[in-house]
Amino acid sequence: MILLDGKATATKVKSDIAEKVKERQANGQKIPHLAAVIVGSDGGSLTYVANKIKACEECGFKSTLIQFEETISEQELLDKVQELNNDPEIDGYIVQLPLPKHIDEEKILMAVNPLKDVDGFHPENVGKMALGLPTFVSATPAGILELLKHYRIETEGKNCVIVGRSNIVGSPLSILLSKNTNPGNCTVTLAHSKTRNLKEVCLKADIIIAAIGRPNFITAEMVREGAVVIDVGTTRVTDATRERGWRLVGDVDFENVAPKSSYITPVPGGVGPMTIASLMINTLKSLELRNL
Ligand code: GUN
Repeated sequence: MILLDGKATATKVKSDIAEKVKERQANGQKIPHLAAVIVGSDGGSLTYVANKIKACEECGFKSTLIQFEETISEQELLDKVQELNNDPEIDGYIVQLPLPKHIDEEKILMAVNPLKDVDGFHPENVGKMALGLPTFVSATPAGILELLKHYRIETEGKNCVIVGRSNIVGSPLSILLSKNTNPGNCTVTLAHSKTRNLKEVCLKADIIIAAIGRPNFITAEMVREGAVVIDVGTTRVTDATRERGWRLVGDVDFENVAPKSSYITPVPGGVGPMTIASLMINTLKSLELRNL
C-alpha cells in the first residue's frame, strides 16, 4: 500500500507556483491577488479559508479576507460580489460555502464574474469544463486529478466508482474522469444515496472515490484487493483526547481499507491540501487567461 501524500504534493505544486510568481515579478507583471469571502463563524469554514490565505502567502500571492456576520443580507452580499467583480486589483475570488439559509447560494454563485470564478462554480465554467474547454475546474476534482497524475496512477480503461454526486465534487469528477485525457479515460459509475447494491458496485472499482461526507462509510468489504482509494471526506468528530476537542474523519474506514488498497489518501493530508493547491493554480490561471 502506498500513501498518496497530498500534503507533500501540494507543497511541490505551491513551490512551482511561487517560482512562476517570482518570474512575473521580475518581468514587471501583475502579482495574483485572491479574495476570500466568508459569512458567519462556522469552525470548519474558518479553518479552510485561513488555509487558503496561508497558501497565498506561500505562493507569493496577495490576498484579502472579507468576513461578514451571519446576519448579512443577501443584497449586501450581492453588492460585495459586484464590488469584487469590478475591482481590477482582484484577479479571482471565492465565496466560502455553505452560506446561511436566508441567502440563496445559487443567486450568489451566478453573480460571480466567470472570469474571476476561481472556484469554477459558475454555470458558464461548469459548462466549459463539461465540454473540455479551457476554464477554471473546481478545486477538489482538479486536486484529485493532480494527485493521480503526480503518482503516475494509470486510469485509462479502469473502472472508477465515485460515491456522492455533489455539484462541487462527485458530479464534475465523473465528467472529468470519463474524458479522453490523462488522467481520464475511465469507465465511470456515479453512485449515490439511491444506488442499489452499493457494495457490489464498489467491489467492481479499480479506483474508488468517496465523497459523501459520512465518516467511515466505505468499509473493507466494499473494496477490491488492490484498488486505488481516494477519500474526499472531512467530517469533524468530537475527540476528547485531542487538545482542540475534535479530529477530522474521512469517508473511508482507513484502518481496515488501507491494507487492501494499492494506493490510498490519508485524512487529513490527502485530498484537502491538493484542493487548496488547485485553487492557487486557478488563481494564477485567472491572470494567464486574461494575458495579464
Ligand atoms: N466549501 C467546501 N468546499 C468548498 C470549496 O471548494 N469552495 C468554496 N467556496 N466553498 C467550499
